[in-house]
Amino acid sequence: MDRMFKSYEVAIIGASGQLGSEFRRLFDGRAIEIRHDQIEITDPTSIHAVLSATGPSIVINAAAYNWVDKAEYEPDVAFAVNALGPRTLALACAGREIPLLHISSDYVFGLDARDAPYSETDTPGPLGAYGLSKLAGEYFVRSLCPQHYVVRTCGLYGHAEAVGKGNFVKTILRLGRERGHVRVVDDQYCTPTSAADLAEALVDLIQTEAFGLYHLTNRGQTTWYDFTREIFEIANVNATIEAISTAEFGAKARRPANSLLNCDKAAGVLHGHMPPWHDAVARYLRNLP
Ligand SMILES: NC(=O)c1ccc[n+]([C@@H]2O[C@H](COP(=O)([O-])OP(=O)(O)OC[C@H]3O[C@@H](n4cnc5c(N)ncnc54)[C@H](OP(=O)(O)O)[C@@H]3O)[C@@H](O)[C@H]2O)c1
Repeated sequence: MDRMFKSYEVAIIGASGQLGSEFRRLFDGRAIEIRHDQIEITDPTSIHAVLSATGPSIVINAAAYNWVDKAEYEPDVAFAVNALGPRTLALACAGREIPLLHISSDYVFGLDARDAPYSETDTPGPLGAYGLSKLAGEYFVRSLCPQHYVVRTCGLYGHAEAVGKGNFVKTILRLGRERGHVRVVDDQYCTPTSAADLAEALVDLIQTEAFGLYHLTNRGQTTWYDFTREIFEIANVNATIEAISTAEFGAKARRPANSLLNCDKAAGVLHGHMPPWHDAVARYLRNLP
């Protein structure tokens, strides 16, 4: 894949989030970095003002409301950020005839309870308000902005700027070190995905002009329990790990038992799959401060 960027200006919305931070690193100062204090994606006036002022040739929307359990109590907030904001963005990008890359989630699936990885052609069915808000956002982008890349991913971990914004890897490391014992669900299958690897693949994707819906994660599969074992082994954390069921964990929001995404379509366009998840997490842990 030719890694030379075209001369267009790339706007990154959500630039201080986990994925947004990796885009900033890759574009190395050549992108328009738009943080939450510079744009409010639930406010159409704010979106139009920022796009008019910055005049990008492509927009990346890495902003989202990601509080899966809290979304059950405030679905209106989740919908405002994850569905109506992307709708306004899609209309704005379509009006300017520029592409929009929008990120979605494995949580658009789960209702049909199955073992095989989901493909782009499978019918979604979310289990909770967060997944439903992400699905609505996808549909708005796909139906309103002809030049769209809508990409579903799973279990992202990266290096966000915001204080207090953890991810599974950082949280489980902290709990393991503090408590010496963690309880982790062993009946949810997933592919933890490095935000750094995903950003690299997405930068390749937006140069293809192969618009459409894609699944993109690191390669392979695991459970949160086995993922924790791998993390503790690499990071030398001396803690016991108790395997529990989703029911025992008792989260407010229901989550898919199978979050596996078939990434063959993206691999065809990008001429290969993303690296295996265990390589990705080993690299991530080596680079953690
Ligand atoms: N994290 C995961 O495990 C996961 C899994 C599957 C898919 N995804 C999807 O992947 C994408 C990137 O996720 P991420 O983990 O990088 O997210 P993140 O770290 O939570 O970053 C999201 C960014 O969006 C900003 N933001 C939130 N509300 C906003 C609003 N109303 N207007 C403007 N900006 C707003 C946040 O700013 P503040 O922090 O200042 O509010 C933050 O910088 C999202 O679409 C997410 O749904 C994530």
